[in-house]
Amino acid sequence: MSNTNITHVVVPGTFDPVTYGHLDVIARARRLFPQVTVAVAASVGKNGTGPVFSLDERVEMISAALADGSSSFEGIEVRPFSGLLMNFCHEIGASGVVKGLRAMTDFEYELQQADLNYRLSPGVESIFVMGSPEFGYVSSSIVRELARLGSDVSFLVPPVVAKRLKERFGAAC
Ligand code: COA
Repeated sequence: MSNTNITHVVVPGTFDPVTYGHLDVIARARRLFPQVTVAVAASVGKNGTGPVFSLDERVEMISAALADGSSSFEGIEVRPFSGLLMNFCHEIGASGVVKGLRAMTDFEYELQQADLNYRLSPGVESIFVMGSPEFGYVSSSIVRELARLGSDVSFLVPPVVAKRLKERFGAAC
């Protein structure tokens, strides 16, 4: 374990698309650390189908959502990455990874990832924040499904994402 203070952390994810739940975690990371990089994974989807939005689109949507004038998001950088998250952390000099925990169901999966990341790079700390209960049920796949079915998703995602979903799925967002 390193004795140096952590000043730069990464908030990683697929963000397909970014939700208010993700923004809550990003804001919490920014409260705790002076330098935050949101790392958007090129990602192969869990079901092998790949993300709905391209890497460029996902980076763009997060950047736009973070540029809403809120001071919670000041000085946050958004960067795409591919390959191992730990390699990306080394590349940009980040020594912590912040992720949100919504429910017990997240825990086992996150523990597995944290364990693997520790084995790959013990100098990079995994840090977990409890997401706001308000967004405990939000996930990108729920948002995509609602949008596909024509539902309004503006209570789950920032306006820029609701607009993009509407263009993509013709949803009434
Ligand atoms: N609010 C809302 N939704 C949240 C959330 C929050 N706070 N935290 C997680 N989620 C949801 C996401 O929306 C997503 O939902 P979906 O599957 O329904 O679409 C789901 O949780 C998983 O999130 P995702 O962004 O895909 O992150 P992940 O935990 O699966 O990790 C990476 C993604 C990129 C961090 C991980 O795959 C990674 O590190 N990849 C690089 C390769 C690597 O280094 N592998 C070895 C380490 S495991």
